[in-house]
Amino acid sequence: MKRIVVLISGNGTNLQSIIDACQQNRINGHIAAVFSNNADAYGLQRAEQANIPTNFINPKAYIDRTSHDLALLKAIDQYQPDLVVLAGYMRILSPDFVQHYHGRLLNIHPSLLPKYPGLHTHQKAIENGDREHGTSIHFVTEELDGGPIILQAKVPIFEDDIEEDIVERVQIQEHNFYPLVIRWFLDERLTLKGNTVVMDGYVLPPQGYASE
Ligand code: GAR
Repeated sequence: MKRIVVLISGNGTNLQSIIDACQQNRINGHIAAVFSNNADAYGLQRAEQANIPTNFINPKAYIDRTSHDLALLKAIDQYQPDLVVLAGYMRILSPDFVQHYHGRLLNIHPSLLPKYPGLHTHQKAIENGDREHGTSIHFVTEELDGGPIILQAKVPIFEDDIEEDIVERVQIQEHNFYPLVIRWFLDERLTLKGNTVVMDGYVLPPQGYASE
């Protein structure tokens, strides 16, 4: 069975959606390990409850990003992952790390990329008067919150929305679609070719597989 390693920093609701999908055989693979850069991440408890090995790698124990990321990489590789999934992992990864997992490293970001890379995306969408927001699932390249998009899901923004309303609406989409994309990847339907995503032999458009 194919092996997934998931990296988290916080609550881990996306991790939970992947755990559930594996348990319900909606993903043809299993989570071999969960890593966190934050010892208090609630996602670590979710993993423990599902009997998944957990690892806390403390960034403060390393002199720089490169040495931290190398230690992380070596620890991850002990699980021989077919796929590495960033699920709310809030650290920038060094180019060597990204290169090592080229074509098998996925991220989910709460915006319709290339709009709003970085933090506070929901608030930025409100402040700019956007009528829609969403989430993007993409292969990771060296660009922050960049890399060829596999799937985007949109949500509406209503007049009286506050940030939490949009966070909640976006997360519903994330929990639906991240497991689906992971399923596609492990079923060998998705490949990264240059700067494009190929699905079932067809190049996807820049906004990825269409989903409303
Ligand atoms: C998710 O909404 C994910 O899109 C975002 O962090 C949240 C983690 O929630 N990721 C990023 O902002 C990456 N740049 P979770 O811990 O409940 O899964």
